[in-house]
Amino acid sequence: MSVRRLAPDAVQPASFAFDAANENWVDQQIAKYPEGRQASAVIPLLWKAQEQHDGWLPRAAIEAVARKLGMAPMRVMEVATFYTMFNLQPVGEHFVQLCGTTPCALRGAEALKKVCQDVIGPQSTVTADGKLSWLEVECLGACCNAPMAQINFDYYEDLTPENFKALLEDLRHGRPTKPGPQNGRSGSEPLGGGETLKDPALYDGTVIGAGDWQKRVTEQRKAAAEAAAAKAAAEAEAKKADAPKPDAPKADAPKTDATPAAAAKPATETAAAGRPKPSEPGQPTSAANDTPAAGGKVDPKSAAESDKSAGTPADKPVK
Ligand code: FES
Repeated sequence: MSVRRLAPDAVQPASFAFDAANENWVDQQIAKYPEGRQASAVIPLLWKAQEQHDGWLPRAAIEAVARKLGMAPMRVMEVATFYTMFNLQPVGEHFVQLCGTTPCALRGAEALKKVCQDVIGPQSTVTADGKLSWLEVECLGACCNAPMAQINFDYYEDLTPENFKALLEDLRHGRPTKPGPQNGRSGSEPLGGGETLKDPALYDGTVIGAGDWQKRVTEQRKAAAEAAAAKAAAEAEAKKADAPKPDAPKADAPKTDATPAAAAKPATETAAAGRPKPSEPGQPTSAANDTPAAGGKVDPKSAAESDKSAGTPADKPVK
């Protein structure tokens, strides 16, 4: 962002007045606003003053606008110094505003700045022939064609140091120039031509507006409704086919040939179905464990000892 200061006294004119045509235009602008709100016309008036004064605003023009609108000169000065569209320094016949914001910087704006310095000189100075001056500005909204510059009221895009230098020379010598992309592409389409929206029907008016569009839209809607109805019917049919038959056994229903006893077993028992039951062979019960003769034989000696140690009360005489 450049420093916003008034031009040195050496270049300031002693006075400024709108010419007759512009005075008339200015009065029309002021008349657009309600009584007491004339200050709202400050920007159009400053713009017209700049136009009349070779593209820049001297102090005298700012003061003339203040007088015209009944404003304090400082209030007008605040507006003029805030908006970068107002040039406070003299500009060349071709005023180059070079974008230096990130997208343009990434695409080579620094190299273009160097061209400006070489061909024109420092920022905000006019070449000796009065033809060129330049200023670095913030994004001008043409980032898709970066890097770019605005020269007077035209955008020049897709610049390179080579084509920019040639452009400045053409301007300096009054040769015709072609605003827009400088690399041959149209607008911001891909380099080498557009890749989408190539159907000619998009551009002959048959797709929008022209022709019997109401009939076409009605037919399209009817076809869409019929397709939706057919789809819904097919889905309903498929659902019906998938539905289980009332007399067919359900795949996941419990088998009806299960034994009644199993079915009647309490939940706790059935829940432990995987667990071996004490009565099953090979799973000795506690009684079986107590029976030393797991194989059916009884050791008489151990049995006698057992009887002796555990002797039942009935074996003992009651005293
Ligand atoms: S950054 Fe340069 S035009 Fe947007």
